[in-house]
Amino acid sequence: MKAVILAGGRGTRLYPTTFVVNKHLLPIYNKPMIYYPVSVALLCRIREIIIVTNPEDVEIYKKLFLFTEEIGVDIKYAVQETPGGLAHALLTAEEFARGAPICLILGDNIFFGHGLPDILMEARRSVEKEGGAYIFVYYVNDPERYGIAEFDSTGKVISLEEKPKKAKSNFAVTGLYFYDQTVFEKARRIEPSSRGELEITSVNQEYLKEGKLKAKLLGRGFAWFDAGTHESFLSAGEFVYTIEKKTGLMIGCLEEIAFNNGWISRQKLLTLANRLKNTDYGEYLSKIAKSKD
Ligand code: G1P
Repeated sequence: MKAVILAGGRGTRLYPTTFVVNKHLLPIYNKPMIYYPVSVALLCRIREIIIVTNPEDVEIYKKLFLFTEEIGVDIKYAVQETPGGLAHALLTAEEFARGAPICLILGDNIFFGHGLPDILMEARRSVEKEGGAYIFVYYVNDPERYGIAEFDSTGKVISLEEKPKKAKSNFAVTGLYFYDQTVFEKARRIEPSSRGELEITSVNQEYLKEGKLKAKLLGRGFAWFDAGTHESFLSAGEFVYTIEKKTGLMIGCLEEIAFNNGWISRQKLLTLANRLKNTDYGEYLSKIAKSKD
């Protein structure tokens, strides 16, 4: 399986901050926002990733992620020339996928919770074995901001709607999707929505029509943020700060995940830590490299 991370768009909801800076490069507490979706791919043991972004931002991402080669992760880049919606951005990654199933992650989504790696692996295995699509829902207070899933009494999804004015439920579809290789053909088939975009919700509706959509609830033990507005951006940063301060453990630390996955040696981790000497991040890597287990 390969991962596609969408990190383009204008970030208009964060204007004026994002006039000249790509949203996904802004810090969520102590690391760029894009680290968090990349960490989700790594937790899913995916080592081939493509980041889809705006033409002017590709070089910055390349610079930021130069080190990922050293942690056993191969990141490629694709350009979305004009904003045309999430499904439109996804289409730029078709060649990269080469018929493999994919994990699609929105660049401003942050996930946290006990057992997350197991849940991710379960989704990955399900799509690799049985095909179809696998999505995650989360109970929210402001359903009109998201894609919304409606369930029947047996827990089956019966409808999906993008940012409904009157939501049929409070279950938001999060920005993390697992798809079989038919996703590209579906993304080509759908029509633009009333706001003129190829919506990822329309792609999910295609899977639903075919009876090939699985939805998993991320319950109250999980935290999920879509850091695309000023308020959610701030909440996400405060959340990461609070958890990291309390536990002394980082959320979204790519080098640590690569080490835990057995992709790099302790020695390599120490080398990476030394390069960031005298920074909190470097100190943390060094602590992990010197820990017993
Ligand atoms: C997108 C999707 C929406 C989903 C949300 C999750 O919305 O269109 O279905 O619920 O991401 O973050 P956006 O935030 O791009 O408006």
